[in-house]
Amino acid sequence: MNKIGIIGAMELEVEQLKSEMTINNTSTKASIEFYEGTLNGTNIVIARSGVGKTNAALCTQIMIDCYDVTHIINTGVAGSLNAKLDIGDILVSNDALHHDMDATIFGYKPGEVPQLGRREFISDKELKELAVKACTEVNPDIHVQTGRVVSGDQFISSKEVKKRLITEFNGDCVEMEGASIAHVATLNGIPFVIIRSISDKADDSAEMDYPTFEKAAAKHSAKLVEKMISELS
Ligand code: ADE
Repeated sequence: MNKIGIIGAMELEVEQLKSEMTINNTSTKASIEFYEGTLNGTNIVIARSGVGKTNAALCTQIMIDCYDVTHIINTGVAGSLNAKLDIGDILVSNDALHHDMDATIFGYKPGEVPQLGRREFISDKELKELAVKACTEVNPDIHVQTGRVVSGDQFISSKEVKKRLITEFNGDCVEMEGASIAHVATLNGIPFVIIRSISDKADDSAEMDYPTFEKAAAKHSAKLVEKMISELS
């Protein structure tokens, strides 16, 4: 039977799903609270990982080891790197990579994790298709597209850095957890997808836009996840 792990970095990104699920058990590991129960008839476990790649990796491995999740969905907000992705639009991951991994001095590609032989972590096809379908059903007015998530332990708010993330990594959106969740899920053989609603443009306006739009953006992403979940029982 499926059990879906849902990870959001911030309370805002998980509070809606938490308020709508039936909670059967709450437990704390490594200072992260895990809520187990059902949502739309599907077994789920939800956690707020905290911000950044280390928190995200920690949360993902605990979900796999201690809560036996069969799939992982990461929901939240992101900065846009693609002119076609405006604030409020949604990106569903084709793949994810670490934009702050740099071992190029040893001949690795930018973003490539040494000795892993890859820099991209590929999303599950079925979860991806389900996410796009769910989005067009619950958020018909919102533009949704698939693409590349690039992650690093920095909030990006400069057009120069944004430009580098586009030219060097071909990223469509930038955030601070997705690649770690993708990395850990891949090493454990667990299918995953990242769903991000755009809260800012990752440029000099990001500092202003992010606080204005993060709440609505997080809600769109959560609404989509809720619909998706009903298809995964
Ligand atoms: N999450 C939302 N917007 C972001 C940005 N501009 N950089 C990193 N993470 C983000």
